[in-house]
Amino acid sequence: MVVCRTIKEIRAFVSEARAERASIGFVPTMGYFHEGHLSLMRRARSENDALVISIFVNPMQFGPGEDFAQYPRDIQRDLALAEKVEVDAAFTPDASEMYPEGYCTYIEVEGLSDKLCGRFRPGHFKGVATVVLKLFNIVQPDRAYFGQKDAQQLRVIQRMVEDLNLPVYVVPVPTVREPDGLAMSSRNVYLDSEERRAALVLSRSLLEARRAIEAGELDARKIVDLVRRMIQSEPLVHLEYVEACRFEDLEPVEVISGKVLLALAARVGKARLIDNIIISH
Ligand code: PAF
Repeated sequence: MVVCRTIKEIRAFVSEARAERASIGFVPTMGYFHEGHLSLMRRARSENDALVISIFVNPMQFGPGEDFAQYPRDIQRDLALAEKVEVDAAFTPDASEMYPEGYCTYIEVEGLSDKLCGRFRPGHFKGVATVVLKLFNIVQPDRAYFGQKDAQQLRVIQRMVEDLNLPVYVVPVPTVREPDGLAMSSRNVYLDSEERRAALVLSRSLLEARRAIEAGELDARKIVDLVRRMIQSEPLVHLEYVEACRFEDLEPVEVISGKVLLALAARVGKARLIDNIIISH
């Protein structure tokens, strides 16, 4: 595996791979790998000739007062794990490589970015879309892999790719959970054992919602209320939002019909956690 700290180095790797007509799979990450990241890499490994990842904690997608400085980092451990899943190249730029002095170009995916998490994290998806477009331009992948745990991010990227005619296929990959249901997240390290136990109400409430839908409850307000009530019964968990919306445009729905995203965000101790289920009915 080669480790490239500069755009010039990763471009040289990509040119060589392209010269050999290799297809390129790409997994952009912010590091501190867990099984969720590794599942993206394994999937990309199995579908492409060359596998490139990036590890970059993107300052542009963190708002003032958010956890950019505390975000967990362990680049040596990440590189060892990447090597094990047979990554060919890891791009690990620093912020001045990605945003040199004078940088002033941004990507706005309007509408989709203001909903759900966007209401609580203004500017977040502008930072995500901007860095992902830059990474796509640098790596020029055939396929790029994104976890469904960040469902809104996935929709923002899919929309950007469609609107800007980017020659990359975005591959959604299912959420990976701990055996007890907690969705894997680098931010789970912020939880102490009490908070971690309390956080299980998030996946449990979504599971209950799925059961209720399967049993015939299609009133979106009742489903949202069920999730809200369960979460509010857990004093350590502070719900930010729970919403049922159309997967396509993230517009709220009244009836569970078609492809629906049931998404939530909550604060547990120092962690802001998100989770969701995607229902096709
Ligand atoms: O999902 C993430 O880890 C980040 O938002 C991404 C896509 C790597 C952009 O910084």
